[in-house]
Amino acid sequence: MKLSIDSAQKMQELGAAIAQTAQAHDLLLLNGDLGAGKTTLTQGIGRALGIKRPVKSPTFTIVREYPEAKLPLFHMDFYRLENDDLSSIDLTNYLSEPGIVVIEWPDVIQKELPEQFLQLTIKRVDDSWSSTKRVVEFEAKGERYKQWVKNILQLLT
Ligand SMILES: Nc1ncnc2c1ncn2[C@@H]1O[C@H](COP(=O)(O)OP(=O)(O)OP(=O)(O)O)[C@@H](O)[C@H]1O
Ligand SMILES: [Mg+2]
Repeated sequence: MKLSIDSAQKMQELGAAIAQTAQAHDLLLLNGDLGAGKTTLTQGIGRALGIKRPVKSPTFTIVREYPEAKLPLFHMDFYRLENDDLSSIDLTNYLSEPGIVVIEWPDVIQKELPEQFLQLTIKRVDDSWSSTKRVVEFEAKGERYKQWVKNILQLLT
């Protein structure tokens, strides 16, 4: 499934639809190059979950926690994570919390991932750096996540 998104605003609206249909223990993986819009999407999720403080990129902190959200948000960014540091992140523990886990740059943690998740890949479609056009590809593993995609798309139409 692919979705065309033509502005940062629309990306945040996708985030809001994701948040509105999310359930406790959901796992969302965000792929895409630098500046693709992973954090922008997560900001849309955060706002829709009622988070008032800014949702900032966790590139240096690895994990940012927002326990005050309607559904607690655990926002992770593994861009700077080395393989050896992986042991410092207890993903299973985060997933056992009744919140949602959003991971930017999940490649490094591939082996530690559960079998089921929703993975989005955000791609630029124009060569120009200033272009705001993106395509978001959805890949759902498992029944819950296939249903989540249906619910998200329903909200957007
Ligand atoms: N359609 C769009 N969707 C998302 N962001 C967009 C879009 N068009 C323009 N932008 C802009 O592109 C930038 C995306 O930055 P963002 O931090 O979200 O990317 P990222 O994928 O998280 O990058 P990084 O890998 O560095 O964490 C923002 O400045 C945002 O306003
Ligand atoms: Mg980011």
